[in-house]
Amino acid sequence: MSALGQDSENHSHGGLDYLSELPQARPHIHETRKFPEGFLWGSASSSHQAEGGNNNDWTDWEKIPGHILDGSQSGRACDHYNRYEEDFDIAKSLNQNAQRISVEWARIEPEEGKWDMDEVVHYRKVLQAIKDRGMQVMFTCWHFTLPKWFAAKGGWESPDAIDRFGRYVELLASEYGDLVDIWITINEPMVYLLQSYGAGVWPPGVRNQFRSVHVFGKMTLAHRRAYKVIHRIVDARGGGKAKVGIAQNVITFEPYRKQSIADTLFVWFADRMFNHQFFIWSRKDSHDFIGINYYFHYRIKNRPEKPSQFFFEVHTENREVSDLGWEINAPAIFDAIMGMTRYGKPIYISEHGVANADDGKRPRIIVAALKEVYHAIKAGVDIRGYFHWSLIDNFEWEKGFSGRFGLVAIDYTTMKRTPRRSAYVYAEICKENGIPHTLLRYMGHGVRW
Ligand code: BGC
Repeated sequence: MSALGQDSENHSHGGLDYLSELPQARPHIHETRKFPEGFLWGSASSSHQAEGGNNNDWTDWEKIPGHILDGSQSGRACDHYNRYEEDFDIAKSLNQNAQRISVEWARIEPEEGKWDMDEVVHYRKVLQAIKDRGMQVMFTCWHFTLPKWFAAKGGWESPDAIDRFGRYVELLASEYGDLVDIWITINEPMVYLLQSYGAGVWPPGVRNQFRSVHVFGKMTLAHRRAYKVIHRIVDARGGGKAKVGIAQNVITFEPYRKQSIADTLFVWFADRMFNHQFFIWSRKDSHDFIGINYYFHYRIKNRPEKPSQFFFEVHTENREVSDLGWEINAPAIFDAIMGMTRYGKPIYISEHGVANADDGKRPRIIVAALKEVYHAIKAGVDIRGYFHWSLIDNFEWEKGFSGRFGLVAIDYTTMKRTPRRSAYVYAEICKENGIPHTLLRYMGHGVRW
């Protein structure tokens, strides 16, 4: 027998031995991918974007031509201020067991140092309405909008900003401590900094890196203050320790040119600055959990000559994008989660969603992202809930009403609410506390792109 023949004989024999040592191939599991008991399934929204009838720094900003891309103003928004019960009924009917909402500082403290008790009571009713429907509350103290008096003093740059914010949070903790399950002090500080003090497309419309760093410092301290205030007040009531954290917009970055050292270094730098700096400065002991808001996957190309673009360019060619032109990469939520495990804290997905008016993509995106959340849990990450952004279409900041993020569509003329197909897909997941196999099969098991 030729050397070749002998070789191949030995090979195949050895190969069979090796096969017999392999664990039995797992049969294909046609079962629901179950999430942990008590997992929170909800949706998220914010006061200014949904309520209507607000009077804050944004309402002035919206009036100036050019500030809102589609020319709209928040105005009546979704009239959620009056229709919150209807909206929570819808969430409940869609099997959700939690809601994330925020309250308007400008309503609660319309003038410096003066509480509007009618508004304080209003928000108690809103929170009670969530509880009455058997849902848990994730509560955001501050979601981008400022009272006009605070903005006039310089907003977060004003010398007493931390005290003013601390006093407001003290009121919230005293008034709502018995109704809130999870506290978010500040929503997406990094997005606020970039939009308001970097790109200057949100009020106060500043483009100044030094001022941006100043505000960054103030916000980390404001968060620390709020963290302490909430614990002091809520923990003293009994009923367990408060859970307090922030909602951080986490971006997954990828070098556009794989062999480029500049792009690779920039990715490292951007990840550190955008995703981690707030936790480093505010210190990990002021976070009981990490809230992840996930929307963006950036393939970035370093552009040293473009300081006005923060020295980089985002590329989306050959990628699927949302109605707003943002790259869609739901599976990358896995990396977003893994990147935040370094703090050793429980994680909530406090926002995730897509602007997609015809809903052609949203069902697939929800399943694709949740499949990765499931895998992260299986890999040992302590993830406790998922809040889809958003329950209803709403006012998408500088994009106006044309960015449609809702599981439920809004007809802004009649205010009629109509659940989209994705709302029912998500409802099925919420009901099962997991992803039914039928959904995975229907989407294609890979649920990739
Ligand atoms: C914000 C929301 C916003 C959503 C979609 C998040 O950055 O918290 O206010 O509407 O993303 O852009």
